Amino acid sequence: MNVLETSNLKIWDTRNNEVIVNNLSFAVEEHKCTAIVGESGSGKSMTVKAINGIHKPWIRCEGNVLFEGQNLLEQSSKNMKEIRGKKIFMIFQDGMSAFDPSCTIHSSFREILSENMCSTKEEEDRLILQSMDKVKLKNPKEILDKYPHQLSGGMLQRIMIALSLALEPKIIIADEPTTSLDTISQFEIVNEFMRLKKEYGTTMIFISHDLGVVRKLADFIIVMKDGEKVEEGPVEEVFCHPQNSYTQYLVNTRKALGENYKKLIKVCQNA
Ligand SMILES: Nc1ncnc2c1ncn2[C@@H]1O[C@H](COP(=O)(O)OP(=O)(O)OP(=O)(O)O)[C@@H](O)[C@H]1O
Ligand SMILES: [Mg+2]
Repeated sequence: MNVLETSNLKIWDTRNNEVIVNNLSFAVEEHKCTAIVGESGSGKSMTVKAINGIHKPWIRCEGNVLFEGQNLLEQSSKNMKEIRGKKIFMIFQDGMSAFDPSCTIHSSFREILSENMCSTKEEEDRLILQSMDKVKLKNPKEILDKYPHQLSGGMLQRIMIALSLALEPKIIIADEPTTSLDTISQFEIVNEFMRLKKEYGTTMIFISHDLGVVRKLADFIIVMKDGEKVEEGPVEEVFCHPQNSYTQYLVNTRKALGENYKKLIKVCQNA
C-alpha cells in the first residue's frame, strides 16, 4: 500500500519563473524506505519541502501530493501544521536547527509532544524516557537538562529519532541526516534508521549522497537530475542494472571511489 503518492509535481520560483522540479511522480510504500539521490541542486530537498509545505513564500508548487486522501499542496497552513510532526516527521541535516537554542532538550521535547498529542505531563515524560531508551540514549535525565549546543550532532539526531518514535508519524522524511556528523556517529545513526525500519516498520523517505548508506537502508530508489526523475526502481535492481546514463555514472563513480560504507564499518570496528 502506498502511504504517499506524488504526481506531476512542479516547483518553481515565482521571482524569475525558474522551474526547480518538473513533472515528478513517485510513490512511497508503507513500511518501506524510499531513497532520493542525485547531484547537489537536483531538487531533492525542494521536493520534500513541498511535501511538508515548508517552502519560502516565493516558491510555488502544483500537481498532487496525495496523503490520506488529500492533496497536501491544497491544504491550509493550519491543516499542514497539524500534519507536520504528528503525521509527517522531518529530520534535517543539522540536528541543531531542529531545536530552540534557548530551551533545554526537555522543554523542546515536551513542547513538540504537547502540540501533537493530548496527554498529561507525566505521560509525556514517561513517553520521552521510553523513546530515549529505545534509541539507546544513556543518562536520559542528564541529556534532557542540557541545551542543544551542549550536545553533539550525533546525539541531537538520536534525540530527533527518539522524538519520531514518541510521535509515531506515518512517514519520516530524513534529508541528509548524517551528512554533518563524524564517521562514527554516521555509522551509529544509520544503524538507528535501520532499526526504525526493521523493528518499528517505519515508512521513510531518505535523502542521501552516500550510495553505500542508501543501498543498505533503502528498498526503493529515485534518481533525480536537474529537477527531474531520471530513474527509479527497487534498490538492488537500480544498483546492479542502472538504465539511465546518469545513474550508471553515479553507481560507477561510487565503485571507483570505493565503498564509503565499508570504510565506515572498518573505522568503527577499529575504534
Ligand atoms: N530558497 C530557495 N529559493 C529559490 N530557489 C531555491 C531555494 N532553495 C533552492 N533553490 C533552487 O532549487 C534548486 C534545488 O535545490 P535543492 O535544495 O532541492 O537541491 P538538493 O538536491 O537538495 O541539493 P543538495 O544535495 O545540495 O542538498 C537549487 O539549485 C536552487 O536553484
Ligand atoms: Mg538538499
